[in-house]
Amino acid sequence: MAEQRKIALTGDRPTGRLHLGHFVGSLKNRVKLQDEYKQYVMVADVQALTDNADKPEKVRNNILETTIDNIAAGVDPTKTTFFVQSMIPEIAELTIFFLNLVTVSRLTQNPTVRAEMRDKGFEFDRAAADKATPGELVSRASVPAGFLCYPVSQAADILFVKANVVPVGEDQKPMIEQTNEIVDKFNALYGEVFPRVTAVIPPKARLSGTDGGAKMGKSLGNCIYLSDSREQIEEKVMAMYTDPDHIHVEQPGKVEGNVVFDYLDVFDPNQTAVEDLKARYRAGGLGDMEIKRRLTGVIEEVVAPIREQRNYLAKNPDHVLGILKAGTEQVREVATKTLAEVKRAMKIDYF
Ligand code: TRP
Repeated sequence: MAEQRKIALTGDRPTGRLHLGHFVGSLKNRVKLQDEYKQYVMVADVQALTDNADKPEKVRNNILETTIDNIAAGVDPTKTTFFVQSMIPEIAELTIFFLNLVTVSRLTQNPTVRAEMRDKGFEFDRAAADKATPGELVSRASVPAGFLCYPVSQAADILFVKANVVPVGEDQKPMIEQTNEIVDKFNALYGEVFPRVTAVIPPKARLSGTDGGAKMGKSLGNCIYLSDSREQIEEKVMAMYTDPDHIHVEQPGKVEGNVVFDYLDVFDPNQTAVEDLKARYRAGGLGDMEIKRRLTGVIEEVVAPIREQRNYLAKNPDHVLGILKAGTEQVREVATKTLAEVKRAMKIDYF
């Protein structure tokens, strides 16, 4: 029975729990796409290791967490196929072939890689690399080759299932561009094998950090997690960046750049009320406490059902592992087929 549906693939690095940034950036779109597309969600453990080679237990422990976060947020394992990246060796094979189609110079110019290198303190530092002992490899200020090349590996993630769409946050746009460059190059050299891919990015995809930083990031410590308790949510909202010049209730306050209002824009189901609050805040007379209390309630409404489902799944780890195992077996068949086709196209199908 041939599958006629178009294909969606996306993934998460298992380096920590998923947060509200993931929820608005990608999870919500996954929930939508799974009804229309044949959707794959990959636990990107190989990619996680590109900057966590010295922390294998952290990556291992987050395999289940990442999957549980997805399912709890509504990505339904009866509609979406979950799998583990490292269990599909064909992805690694494809990565090796793709590496020949990408220049080092292009990789060093990838905006996402550059931004992440800045966040992680990675530099192109030859001296630091030479001094590093094996156990320290990734804690030094020199970028691992695997990390620099992960966009190529990500292209292989996307292309081995011949995905048409990739639901991701805005920060992943450069990855899709790089994937399409690989598609064009591969097809031009070896014949039409891969379709071009489209990123599915929500209109307001980037949720700022609770500190007012441009991005909510696991490594930046400015996240509200899908697993946070009501108390944790409250604490984080109360500490949120608002308008630093709005000290007394009666003073006029700034709405732009005010994280509480940014979040109300995204999550509050009653946008008329939000507009009203903005007007009152601008005019003066509305305190930070009131908008923060409202936001706590609004976020709790979003997170509470996810948290409940999370708790249930966390008590049934074997069930979740079973989902990953079944999905991985299914995906392996797709991978074998694509690689056979790739090798034929590349004239390395000897016997
Ligand atoms: N780079 C993505 C992130 O950091 C994770 C990822 C790995 C991914 N492989 C992918 C996303 C393939 C989309 C498609 O969130």
